Formats: sequence, C-alpha cells, structure tokens
Amino acid sequence: MSCPPKSDDLVFFVNGRKVIERNADPEVTLLNFLRKIVRLTGTKYACGRGGCGACTVMVSKHDPVSAKIRHFSITACLVPICSLYGAAVTTVEGIGSINTRLHPVQERIARSHGTQCGFCTPGMVMSMYTLLRNHLQPSEEQLMEALGGNLCRCTGYRPILASGRTFCVESTGCQKKRTGKCCLDLGGNDSSSLSRESDICTDLFVEEEFQPLDPTQELIFPPELLRMAKNPEKQTLTFCGERVTWISPGTLKDLLELKAKHPEAPLILGNTSLGPAMKSQGRVHPILLSPARISELSMVFKTSDGLTIGAGCSLAQVKDILAEQVSELPEEKTQTYRALLKHLKSLAGQQIRNMASLGGHVISRHCYSDLNPILVVGNATLNLISEEGTRQIPLNDHFLAGLASADLKPEEILESVYIPHSQKWEFVSAFRQAQCQQNALADVSAGMRVILEEATDTIKELSLSYGGVGESTIGAHKSCQQLIGRPWNEPMLEEACRLLLEEVSLPGWAPGGRVEFKRTLVVSFFFKFYLEVLQELKKLDSHHYPEISDRFLSALEDFPVTGPRGVQRYQSVDSHQSLQDPVGRPIMHLSGLKHATGEAIFCDDIPMVDRELFMVLVTSTKAHAKIISIDLSEALELPGVVDVITAEDIPGTNGAEDDKLLAVDEVLCVGQIICAVVAETDVQAKRAIEKIKITYKDLEPIIFTINDAIKHNSFLCPEKKLEQGNIEEAFEKVDQIVEGEVHVGGQEHFYMETQRVIVIPKAEDKELDIYVSTQDPAHVQKTVSSTLNIPINRITCHVKRVGGGFGGKVGRPAVFGAIAAVGAIKTGRPIRLVLDREDDMLITGGRHPLFGKYKVGFMNNGRIKALDIECFINGGCTLDDSEQVTEFLILKLENAYKIRNLRFRGRACMTNLPSNTAFRGFGFPQGTLITESCITAVAAKCGLLPEEVREKNMYKTIDKTIYKQAFSPETLIRCWNECLDKSSFHSRRIQVEEFNKKNYWKKKGIAIIPMKFSVGFAATSYHQAAALVHIYTDGSVLVTHGGNELGQGIHTKMLQVASRELKLPMSYMHICETSTATVPNTIATAASIGSDVNGKAVQNACQILLKRLEPIIKKNPGGTWEDWIEAAFEQRISLSATGYFRGYKADMDWEKGEGDPFPYYVYGAACSEVEIDCLTGAHKKIRTDIIMDACCSLNPAIDIGQVEGSFIQGMGLYTTEELKYSPEGVLYSRGPDEYKIPTITDVPEEFNVSLLPSSQTPLTIYSSKGLGESGMFLGSSVFFAITDAVAAACKERDIVEDFIVKSPATPEQVRMACADRFTEMIPRDDPKTFKPWSIPIA
Ligand SMILES: Cc1cc2nc3c(=O)[nH]c(=O)nc-3n(C[C@H](O)[C@H](O)[C@H](O)COP(=O)(O)OP(=O)(O)OC[C@H]3O[C@@H](n4cnc5c(N)ncnc54)[C@H](O)[C@@H]3O)c2cc1C
Ligand code: FES
Ligand code: FES
Repeated sequence: MSCPPKSDDLVFFVNGRKVIERNADPEVTLLNFLRKIVRLTGTKYACGRGGCGACTVMVSKHDPVSAKIRHFSITACLVPICSLYGAAVTTVEGIGSINTRLHPVQERIARSHGTQCGFCTPGMVMSMYTLLRNHLQPSEEQLMEALGGNLCRCTGYRPILASGRTFCVESTGCQKKRTGKCCLDLGGNDSSSLSRESDICTDLFVEEEFQPLDPTQELIFPPELLRMAKNPEKQTLTFCGERVTWISPGTLKDLLELKAKHPEAPLILGNTSLGPAMKSQGRVHPILLSPARISELSMVFKTSDGLTIGAGCSLAQVKDILAEQVSELPEEKTQTYRALLKHLKSLAGQQIRNMASLGGHVISRHCYSDLNPILVVGNATLNLISEEGTRQIPLNDHFLAGLASADLKPEEILESVYIPHSQKWEFVSAFRQAQCQQNALADVSAGMRVILEEATDTIKELSLSYGGVGESTIGAHKSCQQLIGRPWNEPMLEEACRLLLEEVSLPGWAPGGRVEFKRTLVVSFFFKFYLEVLQELKKLDSHHYPEISDRFLSALEDFPVTGPRGVQRYQSVDSHQSLQDPVGRPIMHLSGLKHATGEAIFCDDIPMVDRELFMVLVTSTKAHAKIISIDLSEALELPGVVDVITAEDIPGTNGAEDDKLLAVDEVLCVGQIICAVVAETDVQAKRAIEKIKITYKDLEPIIFTINDAIKHNSFLCPEKKLEQGNIEEAFEKVDQIVEGEVHVGGQEHFYMETQRVIVIPKAEDKELDIYVSTQDPAHVQKTVSSTLNIPINRITCHVKRVGGGFGGKVGRPAVFGAIAAVGAIKTGRPIRLVLDREDDMLITGGRHPLFGKYKVGFMNNGRIKALDIECFINGGCTLDDSEQVTEFLILKLENAYKIRNLRFRGRACMTNLPSNTAFRGFGFPQGTLITESCITAVAAKCGLLPEEVREKNMYKTIDKTIYKQAFSPETLIRCWNECLDKSSFHSRRIQVEEFNKKNYWKKKGIAIIPMKFSVGFAATSYHQAAALVHIYTDGSVLVTHGGNELGQGIHTKMLQVASRELKLPMSYMHICETSTATVPNTIATAASIGSDVNGKAVQNACQILLKRLEPIIKKNPGGTWEDWIEAAFEQRISLSATGYFRGYKADMDWEKGEGDPFPYYVYGAACSEVEIDCLTGAHKKIRTDIIMDACCSLNPAIDIGQVEGSFIQGMGLYTTEELKYSPEGVLYSRGPDEYKIPTITDVPEEFNVSLLPSSQTPLTIYSSKGLGESGMFLGSSVFFAITDAVAAACKERDIVEDFIVKSPATPEQVRMACADRFTEMIPRDDPKTFKPWSIPIA
C-alpha cells in the first residue's frame, strides 16, 4: 500500500509522561521502545516470545464498553507500539525509585529476599503491582494467577510469593510470626533438635516494618487520554514504517471497508500469535489492520439460550464474563462455560491472557488450542461480518482445518462468538495435559460433550474434539456417530476407546513427538469423561445409576493450584554478638531494592556508546560438514551493515585447535559459530544474517547419541576410574545381583539474562574495555588477549552483576567477548553482542546428558557389598569442561554411602552437538541419580523400603571415601535424622501406603534422600582469591574482590565480612564492580566456594588495614572512625590493602585413585511427597522438607535462598526440563514455550527449609559453608517420590520393574510407566519403520 505522505502521530503515555511518536514504526515493540528509545531499561528482555514475563509492564486503557479504566499486565516484547494509541504504560521505573519513594511492592519483594540476580524482578514487581491496582487486597489465588506468567530461575519463587502474600486478604501463613512455631508442626511428633533449640529463628523479614500500600499515591490515568477516550476520534489512523503500515480505523464500517480493500492483511489484536509467527518465520505483513478502537468487537450479549462474546475481548475478559455467567445461571446451563473456565485458568500466563483476544485465538487455529476443542463440542457459532453483511458459520473441525468452504472469506472478519447454554442431561468437560501445570502448551487438550436421552443413560448426542494430535483440532465424528444410542456403560467405554484410537490416529513420526503418550491420553481423557458423567448421573439420580467404586473416584479430581507454604529455620546469632555485626543475620541483598525498581544496571542496560555497532552471530545449520563456501556479498550490501567478521579477521589465535572461536573449513555441530555480522542496529544485523549463503558438504560420521559415540569409540578424553576393594570377589559372595540403566537428560541453564557483552576499543595503546555478563572475567580477558594478540594488561573486563549464571557463564562468555573484540578491533568501533534466547539455547550447551549402567551386589537384608557403575556423558563436539565433569562425577558417585567394593568408571563422549559445559553441581546431580537408583533397585529386590536400604548403607563413623579422603559423617547423619523427624517421615510413609490402597488412579509417593556434597575445585591453584580494600578520607570503604555477583549475594556477604572485621556498619561500605584492573588473575566464581575464598581475602585485607589503624585507635579510643581515618591519612598510613587467600590444598592422583580433592563437604537431606495421576502422568508436589548443613551461615536469608533456588532448579532437571533434538541434531527446544523450567505453580505446596545449626568447619570464613550448588541434587527427592508412586501403581498392576530409570520424570514417562488397559490398547510402532521427530541423546 502506498502510505499517506505523513504518518499520524501516535499518542500514548509512559509513566505519566506524554509520548508523541511522529514516525511510529509498526515493527517496533514496546520493549524496544522502552529500552532503546526512552531508555527505561528496568523492563528486561529475556525471551522475546511472551513466555517469561521479564518484560512485564502495566497498560491502562479506557474501556468503552464498561466506561471504566482497565489496568492489565502485558509482555512488552510482543506489543507493537502502534497498538498503544490512547493507552498509558506504567513501567517499573514509574512506580517507585530508590531516589524518591519506593513502592511497597518493590520494598517488600526486596526485603522478603525475593530477588537474587534480580533480572526477573521488575517483571515480578509489575505483575504484582497490576494485581494491586485491580484488587487492593487480592486473594492468594489471584496472586498465584498474577505471577503464573513470570519465570524466575534463581529464587524458587517462595520468597517472591511471601512478599506478595503480605498484601493478601488474609495472610493465612502458617508462620506464627515471631513465635517461631509453625502450625504445621502442631500435632507432629516433633522432637528434633531443630525445634528444641531456643535460638532458632523462622523470620527472614519483619512484616511490620513494611510501609503500607497507599492507593492514593498511584499514578492516575492521564486526563488527556480520558478525554480522548470519551470523545473518540473516528478517523482512521495510519502509522507507516519501513516495511509495514499499521491502519487503525475508528469505525466498524471503515474496518470492513479496509478489509475489503486489503483482504490479505491480518487483523492484529494481542499479537500473541501473529508476532511470534512473524518472528520465527521471518514473515512480514505489509499491512496490519488494528480493530483496537472498534467497540463493536468488545460487546457481550447475554440471551436466554446463550452468550455472545465479542471477538476483540481478551481471554482474561472472557474468563471474567464466563465466571459471571456461571455464578448467575443454574449449573446445567453452564457446562460449556465451566469447561472453558477451567482451561482459561491454565492457558498461558496472566499477561498473555490479558493480551490475547478470543477472535485471535479462534482464528489462529493452533493445533494445541485449549479453547477450540471445547468451543467445537459446545456448538459455538462464529458471527462474521463484512461490507456485504453478516453471516454465521459453525466453529467446527472443517473451519479449524481451514477448509475454504467452512472458512471466513478474505474480506470478512470475526465479530463475535456465540456459545449456547448447555441443558439438562448434557455434560461437557475439558481436559489437558502439558509438561507442567501452568504456562505450558498442552500436549493434548480435549473438549467432550454428551447429551443423554432424558432420565436415561442412553447417548443421544456425543462430540469429542482433540487438540495436539494433528495439524489442527480434530473431531472424532465417526466414533461419536457409532456410539449414539449406546448406554453409558463399560462396554460403551471399551468400544469408544477402540473407535477413538482408530479415528484419532497419530503417525509415529508426528511433529512434537510423544506419540504413544498422546495416543494414551486420547483414551485416558475419554475414560475420565466417562467417570465424570457417571458421577453426575449419580448426583442426578442416586438410585438409578451405578456407583463408581471409591478406588476409581481418584481418577476424577484435577490437582488444584495452591500457593506454597512453609517455614524457614535457621540459627539466630549469638545474643552477645554486637548489633553492628551483620554476620549471621538475614541481611537483604545489597542490590535488592535496585533490582525491584529496575535501577540495577545489567550489561545490556548500559547506554549506547558513541558509534556503537551491533553484532549478530551466524551459526552452522549442519551437524558435521565441510564448509565449501561462504558468500557474504548480499549481506554486505544491505543498509546499515558494516562488516562480517570471519576467522580470517582474527589477528591472534582462533581458540584452540579442536575448539575454534569461529569455524574454519569444517563444522562439528548445528549452532557452531561461523561468522558474525556487524551493523548499525540489531535489526539490520539480524536481517543481514538471513542473506549469508553458506554451502556445506556433509561429512561422516554424524554422532548424536551416547550409544552411537560408544559404537564409534568417539570420546573426548580418557576414561576416569576409581576402584576400591575387590569387586569381582564381592559379587561372588552376595545374595543377589541387579543390573540396571539410568538415563538423565541434559539441562539448559536458562539464566534469565542471556549472554551479552559490550567491547569498547580505546583510542590509545590498543586498550579495550569489556563489559560482560560472566562468572569468569579473567578468562574473558585472557581469551581476548590471545585472540587479538595483545597483552592481557591492555584489556579490562568489568562485571557489575550477572543475571544468573549457574555455570553457563564460566567458559562461554570468553567466546562471545573474543568474537566481539575482533569486531571492535576490525571496525574500530564499540560492539554490543546480545544473544537472543533462541541463539543462546542453540549455541551455548548446558548440563551433560548421562547414560549409566550399574551392577549392584547385595545381601537379602539390603546391605550392598559391591557396586560397579559405568557412565558416559554426552560432551558434545569439543572438550570444554567435560573432562573435569567426568572426574567430579566419578569422585562424587558414592554420595552418602559406604560400600566396601566399588568400581566407578566414566567417559565423556564426543558427539556432533554443541559442547556441554559447567552447570550447577558439575556432574553430581546426574551421577548420583545412578547411585540412588541402585538403592531403590536393591530395596525393590529385597522387599524393603528404599529409606531402609539408604540408612543401612550410609556412612556411620569416621571413614575414608573411595579416593581415601578421611571425613566424619556425623553431620550427614544429623541431617538425615533431622529430616526424618522434621518431615514426620515414618508416619507419612504409612499414610501414603494407606492412600495408595484406597486409590487406583492416583498414587502417592514419598522419598528421603541423603547428600554428601563436596565443594570446591579439585585443584589447589583454583583455591585462591584476592581482594582490594580502600578506605577513603571521609571514612567510606570501597571493597573489591575476585568474585562476581551472580545473584548469589556474594557482594552482600563480602560487606558483612568487611563490616565485622573493620567493626564498621555496612552503610560505610560499597562494592562497585568486579574488575580485572582492581583484582587480577581471578578464578571463576563457581564450585560453591566464591564466598569462602573471597571472604577470606576480604578478611585479610581488612585485618591488614585494622592493624595499621590500631596504634591510632589505641591513642584515641574515644574517637570516631572518621577521626581515626583522618589521623591515619595525616600520618601517611596507607589506607589501601590487598588481601589474599592462599586457599585449600586439593589434589587428586588419578593413577593411584587417591587424594584430597575437596576442602570440605556440605551435608543435607530432603524428603518429598508427591501425588501422581496415573491416567495423565501429572504430578502434584505435596511437601518437601530440606535440612541443609550450612554450618554458621554468613547470611541465612541468602543461604536459604540458595538452597530453595537450587532445589527448584534440580526439581526442574528431574521432572520437566526436556531438551528435544531432531534426527539431524537441531535443538528444537529454544525458548520458554518448548523448554519448561519450573513456574510458581510447581513449588511444593508445603516447602520447609532448615539450616542445621552449630556444626563447625574451621577451614572456612567464620565456619560458614558454600551452598550454591548442593541443593540441586536434593531436587531428586521429588524424582524418587514420583518413582515411588509409580512403583506403587506398578505393584498394584503386577508390572515387573525393569530397572531402567529415565529422568526427567515427565508426565509422558510417568503415564507410560503406569501401564494399564489404556496403554495396552494403543497401537505401538516399530521404530525401524519411520524417522522419529526427535531422538534421545542420553
Ligand atoms: C507465551 C504464550 C503462551 C501461550 N499459551 C497458550 C496455551 O497454553 N493454550 C492455548 O490454547 N494457547 C496459548 N497461546 C496462544 C494464544 O492463545 C493465542 O496466541 C492467542 O489467543 C491469539 O490471540 P491474539 O489476539 O494475540 O491474536 P493475534 O496474534 O493478534 O492474531 C492472530 C490471527 O487471528 C486473526 N484475527 C484476530 N482477530 C480476528 C478477527 N476478529 N477476525 C478475523 N481475524 C482475526 C489475525 O488476522 C491473525 O491472523 C499462547 C501464546 C503465547 C504467546
Ligand atoms: S522477554 Fe517478554 S516475555 Fe520474555
Ligand atoms: S532473581 Fe529471578 S531470575 Fe534471578
């Protein structure tokens, strides 16, 4: 379309200020506008797909239908600015600031310790803020709903919810404030030492100190916008961008005229379907028609026979409308509405529900749609309108399949959807099963409806509709037709399942995979429906209809979404400790308030530097190939493109011979970096990469799986082996032997802040300043130095804070820093490189998938005599950390058990996948799953409970590990006993068994897992740290040290140390950043010892300074700190000191299999209880109790945060996080929609964490322990609770255990393991006959 000479002005408000965009570009999202144009960087980019909530802001609009102002949260990454005409946007900066006034939401999330890295915090704040704008005292359900679309990778959500709960109607928290007694303990037989000790605290913050919420302080809706809304302009507004024109008509008539004129132009409403599709397919619609100002599309009409809802209503509005109908009408009329409501609660997150429209949902016809199957069976009708007039078409399968005869005409639009009331003897239900409960697309969704002949059980009408099992929503018409006239009974059920499996068929290769699971769900859902209807009939006429056996009733209930409750216990500081001394107190994260106001600056929040360029990486699309040619010509000609950086541009070393920064001649995996485009803007750079043509010649072999690597003898390093006793002899003497397999999938770090770096070349002496999100700035500095061939001393790396690392920012940032530095040197201009979530997930690798085989020999009483484990990890295409991960895995495999005869072997496989790397726990979480699986196998064989076998084989007295390091297990045993006690394990085990006897379709499981986790690196040179402490003449103190702030609160802890040492309040102190210029040659902040070693270095520096000040203090004991500092300066005493910690000795002789590889151990135990739904594979986490040995915690709030956060991350590893690869080695799961990290609804309903008091570690700073990683493995207690529940189901069904363990325990795994008549019915494919959609790589 030719644009009018001038675009209209786009008028909206941001934080109370008017914005007039004279040349609004429809392709610009609100997120880009806020971050790049108005420089409000509090709103974060983390996924760009609406799936994480990091970019949440509040939008306020005048609603013409209700004549009220509507406040709603949205994800700014999906909102085109042009859709904001007449709207007021409120960002995190708009509600409060540390410089003016904090909003109570901001204050409370920070003071409740709800921020760690802080990258998700502004989004969380805005979700809660919006909730409070609509409900001054929300219910807990509303709070959970509001936060369901916000992901946090650090905290485990509990403290975030705790902060929100302080606003709720009644904070029914079980914590009886300040008494330290929890109602959950009441009645419990609680004799543990934790509860006996009087110095145990359960408060991490003081609620009474929070400022109250005062609604009069909120920004008002701008009067100018109100005037505009009340006298709406009817003229059409047009906004012309470079490639896209946005047309927003003021009347329905104009809209229809425009649609007739531009039939190919889509209507744009929420943009939650159109936006992601345009992005992933690179599709551009030259014209977009926005009906946002047409009130006719938001109308709702209630009639005696049904409800008509305007297509423009958001799904959140639809939910409210339906809820109202349900409350007004008799139950029999609202069957369809209830079914829709059920799914509207779990469909996406609140933000998406606020944005997505009913019309957009229906017309998008996603195969996974939650609502369309229900609308189909509910006989909904689509009211269409065009210039020609109106007409109705049924919302049926033909329409959803896109058949032209059943579809909209190009010039038509959907005006509204009519949903009829249901009637007596009509029953409608909805079902869905996804990887997790909330904010996850369904694997299968279904709408089911039956009408029975009045007062009979004879089927009069039956409709069944499924999503997720084909390209579109599919109806089972033939099956339904054949069942008409049949009574609603068991033979009908049997026949229905047979028919359904024939009709709703899914080929083995079907996109999305999980084929057998989906087939099973098709019939399992029908079975649930069958029972639901029977139950309803029973309610209608209890004499006439058969009773459902009590044991079967459990098939009916869905797991409710409930907010977690729990208690956090820790030891209070000694009553004699000075009040000024912050060590051991739950001090808030230093940046907590800044996280909450958006004023904490992350790497990409740094303003654009003069002449800055943007870099985008070009990666391989082949798994193993020779690069034949790279044609850059077309890309270089595009506007804004400055250069393309290839390996030839590298002045120094191109990485290692077998691990190149930029590929040369050959690629080893999909996602390997080949070159990088440098352009004036990110948009230009992204457009240019599409134009780079690379031709390849495939090479052999191509290896993806561990099995194939073993076959091809493809390994990255030699085998690592430890042996003890005489394993062969021991196997001969045992009562029984079991062999088994364990497969553990990989894990994506999913740090909320993707990898980013800014490289600024300086004019003089080849100096470079590098701002980078890394755990290891010295490594970035060194790599840039060798890549550019300039000395290390010219390069300074700065790390202010990192938005989550978890090991993923140890090695990789050096690669990105070095490539960006090559670009900066070549162009002579600063370079910014910010990875998109998709690229980050594709390129960076993650936790190593593992395959382990074990052979365990044991006596009939459960005593294990011999254990032989051989394991393989999938290292990907280069060595990276794989050798060390293998070593750690082998060293830590024994976990808490003393087994006299052991053989552990491990190898890292080389495959054509992106290189896997460090990840929290470094092999321990995967390896130890094998050991714990052996225990459950032994228990099963001996007819014992797993906890009995665990206890029997645990270390009991001072002993030596397999590598002959001496240690005392006393604290391990204390943790175990405390955990048994605190969780009332034994009585709950009995209750679980009772429950299982009574329920066939739901099973409970409970598991308790002990842990012995070694911290630190297995090399002495890694155990060193330095700090630099300056005291300035005004008395203020600047502390610098070698650790990086990743969210783990290291800076807070370091100031606590400095404060104790200098006997000075923390308010005198500051940490500015971690910089290679102030503390050189640092070690990566990893392996749980960052605070340990840097704390010692800070202590050393402070002690040096205090020693220097001693004579002055002695001379003037009554003086102030400022007096002493002034005197010191006068007396020419240096007020700056370097502290150094020459850390622990750690060595390991692999030849001998002996050593002292670790400085100390962290012990812990966790007990989890779950309930599974055998028909769907879903699970509910009922309760988790963790006891963690923190020794003398430096900061219990931070340490409990680390335990909770890592536990939830571990739970994700073992239950929902599943990486999917194509048979060509392409990673499918590249965003939050395909890769499910836990959400707030995944936290156990009861979640108790206790730090075990008063154990001692003389080695560490103030006897504290590093807790960064250990909690990860405790997440496996959920896994073993699930397997316990599955085992109960299998036992009841007489299924013989095969001892093949697969993690994660996804709904698919659980459902398929609980084999029953439905799993038996489904067709099974011969894997040799088709190419699967995805391949398992572990
Ligand atoms: C993060 C995320 C999570 C999600 N999770 C779920 C989930 O769990 N379950 C689920 O079912 N869905 C889910 N969805 C999909 C979501 O429901 C749809 O994207 C949404 O309903 C589309 O509505 P929209 O207003 O954003 O459509 P838009 O993207 O604005 O438009 C989509 C299409 O509809 C057409 N259209 C819109 N209105 C009309 C009209 N009135 N007349 C004619 N054509 C029209 C447009 O032309 C366009 O082609 C999710 C989406 C996201 C982004
Ligand atoms: S960045 Fe917008 S939702 Fe993730
Ligand atoms: S604090 Fe939530 S992602 Fe880091």
